[in-house]
Amino acid sequence: MRRGSIVQLVVLGVLFGAGAAAVALLIPWLPDPASEQADRIDFVFWFVTAICIAIFALVAAVIVYAVFNFRARPDDDEDGPPVHGNTGLEIVWTAVPAALVTAIAIVSAVVLAKNEQLPSAPSASAARSAQKSTVNGLCKSKGNDPLKPLVVCVTAQQFAWLFKYPDYGNATSSTLRLPIHTTVQLQLQALDVIHSFWVPQFGQKQDAVPGLLTKLVITPKRLGTFPVICTELCGLGHALMRSEAIVMDENKFVSWTKSQQGGATGATGGGGVAPQAGKALFISNGCDGCHTFKPAGAEGTVGPDLDKLADFARQAGQPLEPFIRESIVNPDAYVEPGYQKGVMPGTFASLPQAQLEALVKYLEGSK
Ligand code: CUA
Repeated sequence: MRRGSIVQLVVLGVLFGAGAAAVALLIPWLPDPASEQADRIDFVFWFVTAICIAIFALVAAVIVYAVFNFRARPDDDEDGPPVHGNTGLEIVWTAVPAALVTAIAIVSAVVLAKNEQLPSAPSASAARSAQKSTVNGLCKSKGNDPLKPLVVCVTAQQFAWLFKYPDYGNATSSTLRLPIHTTVQLQLQALDVIHSFWVPQFGQKQDAVPGLLTKLVITPKRLGTFPVICTELCGLGHALMRSEAIVMDENKFVSWTKSQQGGATGATGGGGVAPQAGKALFISNGCDGCHTFKPAGAEGTVGPDLDKLADFARQAGQPLEPFIRESIVNPDAYVEPGYQKGVMPGTFASLPQAQLEALVKYLEGSK
């Protein structure tokens, strides 16, 4: 090969490589990672991207070089020279991609395994009992075992997220709060259809499937508020099935869990339901995901506007209180014109009696 050709090829390769690198670096393709797991995924992303840029630069340089140097002149009617393969070249272009693909597979497998890893490997017997606990499909706290991660039970339903902290007296919230630098295991359940949990800055998605307990490990490394997004088409309100993940200091997190313990769970105590429990129930059951209701600061638009409940009851020809109760436990009995049957889940029929009454009072009282 002539020296001039090599210089031309290298110049073209550098130009195409620089162009592709600029596209990769200057456009923010991925959000800024906020967890250790997202850092690892970022690493895989850049590992693969670097390989792709190198191959793109090589291929583009050779193509452009060939187009200009080997093109047929207008007066050239000859056939090209007959070429019958080049064993050396064929070995190289098979072996190099095979090595690169194998490297990508190994890096990805290591990252996936690490991203599922909990801080310290439990002993064999602990692992066995952990397996048993997933068989009955119940979210379990870490108990008194300091080696186990903080567990958050995540319940997905049309169209809301609910987060429960069994290690902190079953504190309950419609936003996910996590202490920074602490490894957390989310245990996900779905009450109706398949949903999928995603916080872009945490890097990973995990499905919530009815009848299964799926898991996701997160170690937040940056304070802030990030969106929680449902990324599985789950019904009319799918696009609105959003919440927030708030990463906070450990101290603030602990005092927050204490403030949450009195809320929605306090309402389960038989007949004695605190008056402020109505709002907590409204939010913890995800009503705010679909309905507008000013007293709760809710702005959902999937279902009817609950600020107009009195008008709806009049249209339905029913007294307000029984109308509200029936609309919760048997939502298809009367559907406001303009809305569809079967959109509101029937799962609220299983609300404990005291919670149901507190919710009815709350909705009735704030009309
Ligand atoms: Cu839940 Cu989409």
